[in-house]
Amino acid sequence: MKALVLAGGFGTRLRPLSCSRPKMLFPIANRPLIDYTLEALSKEESVDTVVLAVYYMAESLVRYLGPTKYDLGILYSREQRPLGTGGPVKKAKDIMNGDRFMVMNGDILTDFDYKRLIEYHEEKGGVATIALTQVSDPTRYGSVELDWEGRITRFVEKPEYGKAPSNLINAGIYIMEPEILDYIPDEGKVRIETEVFPKLAEENKLYGFESHGFWMDIGEPQDYLGANAMMLTKNNLNKCGESPEIDPSVVIRKPCNFGDNVRIGADSIIGPNVSIGNGVQIGKGCRIENSVVFDGVTIEDYSSVKSAILGENSVLERWVKVESGSLIGDYAQIKDGVTITERVSICPSKTIEESILVPKQVM
Ligand code: GDD
Ligand code: MG
Repeated sequence: MKALVLAGGFGTRLRPLSCSRPKMLFPIANRPLIDYTLEALSKEESVDTVVLAVYYMAESLVRYLGPTKYDLGILYSREQRPLGTGGPVKKAKDIMNGDRFMVMNGDILTDFDYKRLIEYHEEKGGVATIALTQVSDPTRYGSVELDWEGRITRFVEKPEYGKAPSNLINAGIYIMEPEILDYIPDEGKVRIETEVFPKLAEENKLYGFESHGFWMDIGEPQDYLGANAMMLTKNNLNKCGESPEIDPSVVIRKPCNFGDNVRIGADSIIGPNVSIGNGVQIGKGCRIENSVVFDGVTIEDYSSVKSAILGENSVLERWVKVESGSLIGDYAQIKDGVTITERVSICPSKTIEESILVPKQVM
């Protein structure tokens, strides 16, 4: 069976970090998200080939993955313009060769059992079966109503607050029969969630299977940090790469993951839930928790980072504070004594000289 991975979205909610890398290459515990997806698919014995539906930053994915990984063949289906979540399925029609296939959103991190999903799909005999998961806030997802036979009777994408049929949502993993292609228009952008699933549900041809385990969509900064923390905790990581130079007085609170050539000065406290990339330099008296620090970042003395993401080669000078879901773009520089709090995004290579205390995008 082939698995089509939708890997072409812009990652708008992770800008500016997604301006220079696709979501699938965001590191989670220092390993790109796509690696977790491919490794999990390689363990499902019926999947032998992955088709990556690429558009935005396609070349960086092709360059990173090449033609095979984890014993899986990798094919690329390149879009000339964005085809949404349904168009790529239609576009891959010939590659699928009239066989049953799997589709998944490329921006999720999960340990769901695909085998059980496939078995359930076979047992029910629908045109498509969607993996479902329980969440507390269904408004950011596709919410479903299930009947007692496991049929999806209603599919509502991004329901308004209080209007979701249930807290069971579309986990973005599907098993599909070739008949699904008859429901997807030939040309252009198609949103499978609003243009295809509701119709299939109306015709009683759509099933849902509640999967258990961990699941996360990394589309928003807090989710991305959550996924990173979850992966660190799952593996109970406290791993250090090659050639670390960590002062003996540094306190490391598990779980944390460090890349190669990381330097940390005296009396710094790192963790919990922190991933530090390769070549990161941290001064003395720094404090970092619940954050992801990309490769090549410099954090000078007495600076602190909490629930934030620091882009590649960004620099925090001395006594800087970065907090609460803020995103620092690649190569940005935050000057001495600046505080950045509450969902602030700083554009790549920007220099910030004054504190920013309200949610804001700094271009
Ligand atoms: N190839 C390609 N082309 N891929 C695309 C395109 C495109 O034009 N647009 C989006 N994608 C990919 C994204 O990269 C992502 O992996 C996936 O399709 C889903 O798009 P998102 O933009 O992340 O959608 P969402 O998270 O708001 O909602 C979807 O996922 C939820 C679960 O994570 C929906 O399917 C919801 O129903 C679902 O609950
Ligand atoms: Mg998503």
